[in-house]
Amino acid sequence: MAKPKKQYVCQACGAVSPRWQGQCGDCGDWNSLVEDAAQVVTPFTAKHDLRGGGRRVELVGLNAEVALPARASTGIAELDRAQGGGLVAGSATLIGGDPGIGKSTLLLQAAGRIAGQGMPVVYVSGEEAADQVRLRARRLGVTAPTLQLAAATSVRDILTTLAEERPALVVIDSIQTMYSDMIEGAPGTVSQVRSSAHELIRFAKETGAALVLVGHVTKEGSLAGPRVLEHMVDTVLSFEGERSHQYRILRATKNRFGGTDEIGVFAMGEEGLSEVANPSALFLTDRGEAVPGSVVFPALEGTRPVLVEIQALTVRLASGATPRRAVVGWDSGRLAMILAVLEARCGLSFSTAEVYLNIAGGYRVSDPAADLAVAAALVSALSERPVPADSVAFGEVALSGALRPVAHAGLRLKEAAKLGFERALLPASVADEKGALCLTGFRGLREMVDHLLGR
Ligand code: TYD
Ligand code: MG
Repeated sequence: MAKPKKQYVCQACGAVSPRWQGQCGDCGDWNSLVEDAAQVVTPFTAKHDLRGGGRRVELVGLNAEVALPARASTGIAELDRAQGGGLVAGSATLIGGDPGIGKSTLLLQAAGRIAGQGMPVVYVSGEEAADQVRLRARRLGVTAPTLQLAAATSVRDILTTLAEERPALVVIDSIQTMYSDMIEGAPGTVSQVRSSAHELIRFAKETGAALVLVGHVTKEGSLAGPRVLEHMVDTVLSFEGERSHQYRILRATKNRFGGTDEIGVFAMGEEGLSEVANPSALFLTDRGEAVPGSVVFPALEGTRPVLVEIQALTVRLASGATPRRAVVGWDSGRLAMILAVLEARCGLSFSTAEVYLNIAGGYRVSDPAADLAVAAALVSALSERPVPADSVAFGEVALSGALRPVAHAGLRLKEAAKLGFERALLPASVADEKGALCLTGFRGLREMVDHLLGR
């Protein structure tokens, strides 16, 4: 019998190479090739032509009287929101996030809620003993009798059990700990993860169970294991947040059943994760007296406005050393751009000042509308003139210094009004939005700088 051939599989993209290489020839990732057992090859058959000899597949018309897959609300509104309205029967969801961020906690709570509706739920942990999970469930107040726990890692054992139990929801925590005895190699390798996930997903599709897989993430924060895993599942959720901060954000990065622009916001507390229906309050530090360098920005997450505080600090340098620019929660390239526009178009000089920018609460802003708020914070810090505490600012800044309108200005203003803000600094093109706020529109960045400096 021929010796099973060795092969090397890229842990990033799943490309196969017969030899070890330092760099994957497919995706260009470095040091990502790992030795892996060769694929099981289907026996060679004489049938070379695929156009016959198979079973006819069922074709369904668009208007056929077939019920569309049902959605089960998880009972956690923030989770439903990120999912696009609840778990879909027969679907597979992958949830990734840093260790200790709260994936197991969230899924145990969700499993408890769904089981609380009388549905059979199985939670399989490959990382913790069943007693450990039970203890945690007790601490979280999860008591549903139709929720069953198991500590197992063999996909064959799990599927054998599930075939008898017929659960409505299966949680696998985590896919990296599962192994399939049809494939060689340790749990966590590309072929093991792919094969285990494949079998579990097939089970879900065939029985109509909703499947949730927990996935580990790499140091860089992307999902570990083969990229193909993301293609295999219907929904990919990422659970984000700073472990040192309380809040967590659940974000869909892929969703076959809904949009990917909604987020769910949670706060981690003594009794597990609680939903945060009004995230704005979480990200605003106590707003009393106006301080230089602080500006509130109404960010948008999907269709949901979140008010965050942008803080800037500038420190004048005496010597000719290269000044520092440090950013937390925003893009440093974008900060450099705003600084350059302020210098070139507005006559301000930051070249002898160190600049620090921070988004309060550990929040990460990716919304381009933050430009104007950041600029206002920088001008306010440099001039030591506070921006009034009852105002918000938003708008995109072009390299020319022109201000561009941004999406959903109305939503942002409404949220600001709801939280008691009274004024808004924004591009002139959206200054005719109606609402409770007093709006000051600017055609260019220079105009806003003049306004802030009282020129
Ligand atoms: P966990 O769900 O185990 O994270 P993951 O599965 O993503 O690795 O969460 C672990 C952290 O959450 C742990 O550091 C403690 C914290 N935690 C709480 O603060 N409150 C709680 O009620 C629970 C269950 C966990
Ligand atoms: Mg866990």
